[in-house]
Amino acid sequence: MAKSVCPWWLGCFLTSPIRRLWQNPKEILRPFVTDGMTVLEPGCGMGFFTLELARLVGDQGKVVAVDIQPRMLQGLNRRARRAGLGQRIETRLAEEKGLPTRDLSGQVDFALAFWVVHELPDVERFFADLHESLRPGGKVLVTEPRGHVSQSSFTEELELASRNGLHVSSRTETRSSFSVVLERA
Ligand SMILES: C[S@@+](CC[C@H](N)C(=O)[O-])C[C@H]1O[C@@H](n2cnc3c(N)ncnc32)[C@H](O)[C@@H]1O
Repeated sequence: MAKSVCPWWLGCFLTSPIRRLWQNPKEILRPFVTDGMTVLEPGCGMGFFTLELARLVGDQGKVVAVDIQPRMLQGLNRRARRAGLGQRIETRLAEEKGLPTRDLSGQVDFALAFWVVHELPDVERFFADLHESLRPGGKVLVTEPRGHVSQSSFTEELELASRNGLHVSSRTETRSSFSVVLERA
């Protein structure tokens, strides 16, 4: 069955400052991202997390932000320009299946997949592509919305990650989300 993709106009709500009251991008990302890193963000939407990723990687780093909807990427590019962070963010349109990241093989230090895995048509292929793009020891923060995604569906996602060489190194749960950090051995 086809999975439903978050409509582009919801992208505006997802970047609302009110969201920071329960999901603060700086606090969530700071433990994982440092100066000079290469970061991949599949399903970036209009960039609620992307701008903070760009601040954390600094002048020497870069963020590759991927989305399946051109209007999400247009919104992100507009916000990035306004924030003076356009130079650090490269936006890419996702392919029908899989990530457009073959050129990044073994180069990504950290990836963020926030509220996106349940929307993907081929989750196994997604984790295989992520594994390919990460350097050894590279990490992925995967967060899924509770309620929308059941505990058992989340466990199935993690099994697909593990089958593709990405192993759970830590887990957390909040009222709104399930999260894990996956690591490439
Ligand atoms: C619920 S939104 C979350 C956006 C962002 N991560 C956030 O937390 O604000 C999910 C995003 O994933 C994108 N998406 C869905 N399927 C995708 C695919 N196959 N490849 C890349 N992005 C996809 C949607 O277009 C949407 O922008």
